[in-house]
Amino acid sequence: MLSYVRLSSFSFSPISKGMGRYYRSRHLSALGAPPRLSLKPDEPRRCHVQQRRTLAATPHYDIKKVGVVGLGLMGHGIGLVSAQAGYEVIAVEAQAPALESGKKRIDKSLSKILSKAVEKGKMTLEAAEKEKEKVERRITYSLDLAALRDADLVVEAIVENLDVKIPFYKQLGSLVKPTAIFGSNTSSLKIGDFAAPSGRPQQFVGLHFFNPVQLMRLVEIVRLHETEPAVFETVRGYVARIGKTAVTCQDTPGFIVNRLLVPALVQAMLMKERGEASVEDIDVAMQLGAGHPMGPLHLADYIGLDTCLFILEGWVKKYPNEPAFIVPSSLRALVQGGKLGRKSGEGFYVWEGDKKVKPAM
Ligand code: CAA
Ligand code: NAD
Repeated sequence: MLSYVRLSSFSFSPISKGMGRYYRSRHLSALGAPPRLSLKPDEPRRCHVQQRRTLAATPHYDIKKVGVVGLGLMGHGIGLVSAQAGYEVIAVEAQAPALESGKKRIDKSLSKILSKAVEKGKMTLEAAEKEKEKVERRITYSLDLAALRDADLVVEAIVENLDVKIPFYKQLGSLVKPTAIFGSNTSSLKIGDFAAPSGRPQQFVGLHFFNPVQLMRLVEIVRLHETEPAVFETVRGYVARIGKTAVTCQDTPGFIVNRLLVPALVQAMLMKERGEASVEDIDVAMQLGAGHPMGPLHLADYIGLDTCLFILEGWVKKYPNEPAFIVPSSLRALVQGGKLGRKSGEGFYVWEGDKKVKPAM
């Protein structure tokens, strides 16, 4: 005989009477209910009611409107993949020229994706045109943070600088509706450092996408001790709907990928500084010898040398005893000279738009 127990506002789960206690406690702990009260034989119904009350108090998170802040290399891609998945997107920038260039990036990337689908016979030209219109209609652009007031999820992709992110989150927390979830795309900063200033650490996760967002299939979800289980599950649902695979980790420097990847980029820069191999040979070696799609110096240019420098300087300051965290002098010199890689046209390579042309050194 089956009975049905309402689990928050998510689902109805069939529970057999005999197995009720076991399943209820498992489902409830997954939803973040407090540890189960001891179930004395004479009071099973009281505990059951107590649990229902706890669940009724759990807010219901449902993502329909996604806010994206910062439309640079990462944010434009996050906005685009969210709109392609059917979400209503509010895309916010700090300044008009950056908003304009974010809009252009989204337009160019969407056109590229759709024309490729037409070329491959996956879509007719007419269907692609309709899809373009539909996706574009889902995105609203703004220079005003208050445009995010009704967002259900806000993904932040602004500069990698704690002195900018902390005041940003203070302001965001005061403007956006209380049930909204915040996700930071930071590459390297401690999520807890700005989750608290946002005023809602229980609705905060790291939501780390990879560059280029449109093509990379992973998202790291960083779960804080404070993150409510229902928030975590809702964010996991968002990641699945945009077609990415989620992995989870704690609020640890660099999460999983960057903790392993960035020190490798550093070693490549140091190898070049010592004159042991050329830029091209280092990159070809890692492509053909280790099967990486891009060599490390090519990838550093692709990520942005300013972002690489921000990551490393932050780590060296915060974790001075970690030997893997080093700032190569060549990286500092390039950034000081305005050579930021792909985004500025020169770094370890000379770039023409999105294509690297030749080594710059
Ligand atoms: N939007 C739409 N389409 C795009 C695109 C974009 N932004 N970028 C590329 N494409 C298209 C290209 O136009 C191309 O289409 P055609 O085949 O029609 O020409 C197609 O996608 C493939 O692009 P490429 O020809 O450049 O092909 P590729 O096979 O070299 O793939 C790549 C490109 C996926 C970027 C691959 O080189 C790669 O995986 N590189 C490594 C990227 C990486 O490691 N990223 C992680 C960086 S670390 C990070 O992000 C974390 C952090 O915090 C710093
Ligand atoms: P970017 O410099 O290309 O873009 C940042 C954008 O944020 C700019 O357009 C800037 O105008 C905007 N901005 C800055 N302050 C703002 C504010 N207060 N309000 C609204 N917009 C603001 O940087 P990016 O490479 O896209 O990186 C953004 C974030 O994503 C950083 O935290 C970075 O560490 C992280 N990240 C970068 C990569 C990468 O490969 N570049 C990969 C993963 C994560």
